[in-house]
Amino acid sequence: MTVLEAIATRRSIKNFTDREISRTEIERLLAAACQAPNHRMTEPWRFYVLGPEARARYGAALGARKAKRVEEPDAAQAVIEKVERTHRDLPCMLVASVVLDENPEIREEDYAATYMAIQNLSLVAHAMGLGTHIKSGAIMDDPNSHAAVGLPEGERIIATINVGEPARVPEAKARRQSAELTTWVS
Ligand SMILES: Cc1cc2nc3c(=O)[nH]c(=O)nc-3n(C[C@H](O)[C@H](O)[C@H](O)COP(=O)(O)O)c2cc1C
Repeated sequence: MTVLEAIATRRSIKNFTDREISRTEIERLLAAACQAPNHRMTEPWRFYVLGPEARARYGAALGARKAKRVEEPDAAQAVIEKVERTHRDLPCMLVASVVLDENPEIREEDYAATYMAIQNLSLVAHAMGLGTHIKSGAIMDDPNSHAAVGLPEGERIIATINVGEPARVPEAKARRQSAELTTWVS
């Protein structure tokens, strides 16, 4: 698969088969991530590979946030347990964080570089026949998600990435043509 083909056919995958993702596969993905460009060679990215119990802890933290919108206590508890279970059952879940530099300019570059690393990872996963789903949201700043991951001080979670063998590949979402979004400046 060429890079162009990988870019054109990658989709966010939400449904995975039960096939476990091996350590070797995960290491290939992370090696690709770490090849991303980064200004000043700060290599700002950090990755956490969550095992089933860590995934369940992250899911419980996310579920607790969702459950705040549910009034009835049993229903709220059911929400927490469902999100916990769906996370435990994932074939593989990675957390991407960035080391926070004191300098705001470097901090912004490092954030960008870490997303380039995530894109590398997603494209290489696709080329390996795997699917990825990048997720974000306020949960990433929740102390309970930090505890679930064991995030050290001075890092910020900027994405979680579910990885697995796709069970269902969604249709491509329509995109605007680049010409619509481009100004050629003379
Ligand atoms: C920075 C970022 C954050 C995202 N966060 C979420 C998320 O929280 N939940 C979700 O379902 N998808 C999330 N996505 C996936 C996008 O919804 C998805 O890429 C988009 O719908 C386009 O679909 P495609 O990836 O299949 O082309 C995120 C993607 C990016 C790049």
